[in-house]
Amino acid sequence: MRTFCVLSAVGILQTGCTSTMNMSTSDGGGMDMSNPDGGNMDGMNMNIPAAKPMLVPLPRSGELTLPRAQDENPDPNIVEVSLVAAVTQVEYLPGKKSMAWAYNGMVPGPTIRANVGDKVIVHFTNNLPEATSIHWHGVRVPNDMDGTQNVREPVPAGGSFDYTFTVPDAGNFWYHPHVRSDVQVHRGLYGAFIVEDPTAVKISSSSDEIVILNDVQIDPSTGTLDDTEDARAQMMGREGNLALVNGMASNLGVSVRAGEVQRLRIVNAANARYFQLALNQGFMLRLGGETLRGAPEQTSNVLLAPGMRADLLVWVPAPDSTVTMLATAYRRAMGAEPTETIDLVRFVASSEPAATMPTVPDQLRDIEELGQPVAIKEFRLSESMAMGGNQQFLINGRAYPDVPIVTSALGAVEQWKVINESDMDHPFHLHGFSFQVAGQREWKDTINIPPKADATILVDFGEREGGATGRWLYHCHILEHAERGMMGEVAVQ
Ligand code: C2O
Ligand code: CU
Repeated sequence: MRTFCVLSAVGILQTGCTSTMNMSTSDGGGMDMSNPDGGNMDGMNMNIPAAKPMLVPLPRSGELTLPRAQDENPDPNIVEVSLVAAVTQVEYLPGKKSMAWAYNGMVPGPTIRANVGDKVIVHFTNNLPEATSIHWHGVRVPNDMDGTQNVREPVPAGGSFDYTFTVPDAGNFWYHPHVRSDVQVHRGLYGAFIVEDPTAVKISSSSDEIVILNDVQIDPSTGTLDDTEDARAQMMGREGNLALVNGMASNLGVSVRAGEVQRLRIVNAANARYFQLALNQGFMLRLGGETLRGAPEQTSNVLLAPGMRADLLVWVPAPDSTVTMLATAYRRAMGAEPTETIDLVRFVASSEPAATMPTVPDQLRDIEELGQPVAIKEFRLSESMAMGGNQQFLINGRAYPDVPIVTSALGAVEQWKVINESDMDHPFHLHGFSFQVAGQREWKDTINIPPKADATILVDFGEREGGATGRWLYHCHILEHAERGMMGEVAVQ
């Protein structure tokens, strides 16, 4: 049974009220509910302070639908939108005003949708008190449109810039600043960027929604956003105490009809929080993540590290029942306690008889096999934990910008082995190019690597309209780690 929180004095929520799983009805797949105290079983040498307790919002009903950026251009092959970044106020908690930095006054920013091959023009104005940029996470843009400071000066306060590029791939992408990203993203600068392939196999679903997960560190009595970093945040990145679903407190109830299939394109926009997605009952179908896989897979558990996406189909099998999407406990580091379980979204089926479920195609797309790699590179992720602060996160023993630049040939396929020598998970993200995890037919741009583990990826350094040469970043997508050194550059020439 779920333990429901009583209404607190302010009628909103209560701190530290634990939300427990009913183990007999959950599928339990892959959940690590053991070793609740973190223990010393790994001979760990870090002493990771416990996370602050999560706020537990009361159930609420609403809708997932996010506003879309208005296309100002009548040409069907051009998507032209305007984004203005500015300081604003939002209500993460009902009745409490929180300061936010937002695109077009909303958190998340408006969704940008385009078709493969479209030209995208973004008129960007920076009305923030400091410089910023926009990075199109996962989109194979030309190098000087990638929003990184190593190739182009950020847009100064009061300045503007037009980002223009062609979108070569279908996928579930997102956008966010690449200047002081640990602060700017936490304050609310992030949005979804969806590219469709109109010739792709048709997936029937009664809804197609974007679900952007995030968390904020907030004072529940005043709503004040707090972007300081405590000792834990300096090691693990800042995990907020309030989980957000599309910019609102989690535990949102959505009305559906039983049997109807909901398509959810889920983005983890959090600085550091891992969302291990599971349903309290039933199964979900994973179509892919950043892009569609070759074939859908039935799954009970999807781990979304920061920066990653999931493309899922979920449904409620029976009328008068509810399926809850949860973020289940996940242990992000040796010696750390698992994260708390969070109710993200409840799909509440009416008493209307179940609809007939559409069939899902067995094959979603053909994914070409990459040729033999022409070069092999190794990247070692490590951390140096100086007592009393000064934690550094390193690649091949150095902190950015002192990590030596590696070079790759335009058009080449390379094998990259990313070795995590540290005691905590790190999500590895490469700008500008897609890769496949060896042996898996799925194009990705971000991959999670657990402690003392490694991943071998095949990177396609292919050309695109506007050019692929230049200096591209790769980094850990825990934004505090990237900003503290776990970042490097590959020069494609
Ligand atoms: Cu989404 Cu360099 O990041
Ligand atoms: Cu990291």
